[in-house]
Amino acid sequence: MVSPSHPNATEIGRLNGKVVVITGASKGIGKSTATAFAAAGAKVVLAARTRETLEQVAADLRKSGAEALAVPTDVTSTDAVKRLIQRTLDTYQHVDILVNNAGVGYFGPVVDFAPDDWDMVLNSNLKAIYLCAKYALPPMLAQGSGQIINVLSIAAKVAFEASAAYCAAKAGALALTKVLASEVRQQNIRVTAVLPGSVRTPFWDGVPEPPDFEQMLKPEHVAETIVSVCGQPSGMVTEEIVVMPPLGIL
Ligand SMILES: NC(=O)c1ccc[n+]([C@@H]2O[C@H](COP(=O)([O-])OP(=O)(O)OC[C@H]3O[C@@H](n4cnc5c(N)ncnc54)[C@H](OP(=O)(O)O)[C@@H]3O)[C@@H](O)[C@H]2O)c1
Repeated sequence: MVSPSHPNATEIGRLNGKVVVITGASKGIGKSTATAFAAAGAKVVLAARTRETLEQVAADLRKSGAEALAVPTDVTSTDAVKRLIQRTLDTYQHVDILVNNAGVGYFGPVVDFAPDDWDMVLNSNLKAIYLCAKYALPPMLAQGSGQIINVLSIAAKVAFEASAAYCAAKAGALALTKVLASEVRQQNIRVTAVLPGSVRTPFWDGVPEPPDFEQMLKPEHVAETIVSVCGQPSGMVTEEIVVMPPLGIL
């Protein structure tokens, strides 16, 4: 918990008791984001496919006094996403914040890129945001408030070679974010796109010739950004935020 003397105590105090669903919460940015929300007093619902890793993260958070629920979920599956939201409502009765963070990156030139890999990248980075928003929105609309944070990438705006599926998915997700924001702003639901540059996470495991790990952002940097956006007062919305390593694109 944050002491009242913490410089961000007012902002973070707004998150106390909030119910936050975080996808891709077993590793990397999602795990750091879950940890940061839990430290701010939020109740966190963690989603990812691999049960053991996810349950370990939830168990560690509970050990530190947080309320954390692990719901193994493949966010590309309609039924699984419905179950995730229903489990959240059954346990905590509402959903205040949804962080759409899950996603995979497969890379290679278009001519060599496998159709199944294309589907995997598009479904996890783009379709999943639509699915999670679709099923989290009804309870948010019913309660008259909510916040959706979509973790995209600078690849939504910059064309990286050998990254067609990833860039297309993230650019599509940025368009989806803008449409969603305009559809629900009248109902007091705030939607934000977060576009990080390179972040040192397991995302890069197995990627040939990755950028310099030492220069990358830490997942905590992105987590802090997300928590701080969610702690902003009502009456304002941060629509888009780009978070880059100091050296920019690596
Ligand atoms: N790392 C970077 O440099 C960077 C930069 C900009 C943006 N991003 C974006 O940030 C987000 C998180 O990336 P990260 O770096 O933290 O990656 P990561 O360390 O590889 O973690 C990805 C998380 O997503 C989960 N996941 C993947 N596919 C899923 C699915 N179909 N259903 C549910 N969960 C799924 C993974 O768990 P399971 O495998 O167990 O499902 C894991 O928890 C991604 O959207 C990524 O595109 C990353």
